[in-house]
Amino acid sequence: GIELGKLLATTGYITHDPGFVNTGAASSAITYIDGDAGILRYRGYPIEQLAEKSTFIEVSYLLIYGELPTQAQLEEFTGKIQRHTLLHEDLKAFFSGFPRDAHPMPVLSSAVSALSTFYQDSLNPFDEANVELSTIRLLAKVPTLAAYAYKKSVGQPLLYPDNSLGLVENFLRMTFGFPAEPYEVDPDVAKALDLLFILHADHEQNCSTSTVRLVGSSEANLFASISAGINALFGPLHGGANSAVLDMLEGIQAEGGDVANFVQRVKNKEKGVRLMGFGHRVYKNYDPRAKIIKNTADEILSKLKGGDQLLDIAKKLEETALSDDYFIERKLYPNVDFYTGLIYRALGFPTKYFTVLFALGRLPGWIAHWREMIQDPATKIGRPRQIYTGYASRDYAPISER
Ligand code: ACO
Repeated sequence: GIELGKLLATTGYITHDPGFVNTGAASSAITYIDGDAGILRYRGYPIEQLAEKSTFIEVSYLLIYGELPTQAQLEEFTGKIQRHTLLHEDLKAFFSGFPRDAHPMPVLSSAVSALSTFYQDSLNPFDEANVELSTIRLLAKVPTLAAYAYKKSVGQPLLYPDNSLGLVENFLRMTFGFPAEPYEVDPDVAKALDLLFILHADHEQNCSTSTVRLVGSSEANLFASISAGINALFGPLHGGANSAVLDMLEGIQAEGGDVANFVQRVKNKEKGVRLMGFGHRVYKNYDPRAKIIKNTADEILSKLKGGDQLLDIAKKLEETALSDDYFIERKLYPNVDFYTGLIYRALGFPTKYFTVLFALGRLPGWIAHWREMIQDPATKIGRPRQIYTGYASRDYAPISER
């Protein structure tokens, strides 16, 4: 494939592939997907096994360094992350510059971009020690930044990290706790969030990861590249789908719960009406992550809320869609985000914050891809071509003659 691409480039022919449906932009050893069979593996390990047996911090190590850590490696990695969770005090002032009701996603991407200005000692993409330090800084500080973005959006005081806690527990405390007040982390909540982070941790060349790689291919530093990835994730067709699903379910509920009517509107292709959380560019089968999450949604929602009317609407929607020819012919199945919003809501997160949670989960995947890309001798600056459709050539006319 690579050789054919190079050969075509010398002939003047261009592959026209809008949306990169069939363009392999990189070789990668990180994540394997078989979309027809519904298979997802990180570094060869099936997602089902990692979801059942691993932890987010261990999966982060696996994605970034290629192997599951030994006990000693895991302790060292965890310790390094714990030591770097604090933000520079001047970064706190940065948050006060945003409007009070700012969406936390652009706040997060701006803050991650700003890390380039605070850590000018670790920006060289080819210095391995620099890259290692930036990796740890990102893994440690992005949860703190995300919690601050949340606190800003609800007008509450910021909390310093408590490094006696694990990564997820610390994040929950910084999000929901108050200074000088004890905060008890609910182990069920921490476990559910850890699982959701594992399921989101990587998904090969998706829109945000491709963005990270493309920006990084210009040798832009890790902070700048990840900030770009966060912005790509913001869109409703990508990470923004998890909040869009909840808006959709609440809309159906407000209109009396008429699922059949909503599905008909989707099939009529009414402008702006899609079955959010359904369909995927690669999966033409049930998304394996959605299968795992569906079970968790049942458990968590009945435990924390004693059931949920929106979950009933979601299940009815799924049932209706999966037996309808429109969805069957197009191979549209629930994707990872069909059920995640319901869990995030049950855990106490507001809808606006859901996509930030996706970003926290995807962070190790973005870092792993950036590192793989920068070390790959085959990497070239990303520079797609185009099919020009404008005027051939015309002469400039003075303004009086136009
Ligand atoms: N609801 C209704 N129809 C759909 C949906 C949907 N969710 N998804 C695709 N279709 C239809 C399209 O209208 C199209 O029909 P047509 O052939 O009659 O024109 C056909 O299925 C193919 O769809 P495309 O848009 O060409 O598929 P593509 O691969 O470009 O898009 C995407 C994939 C963006 C995920 C799409 O399925 C979608 O918009 N889904 C809803 C948003 C969503 O859930 N995004 C999250 C994706 S997963 C993630 O980022 C974690």
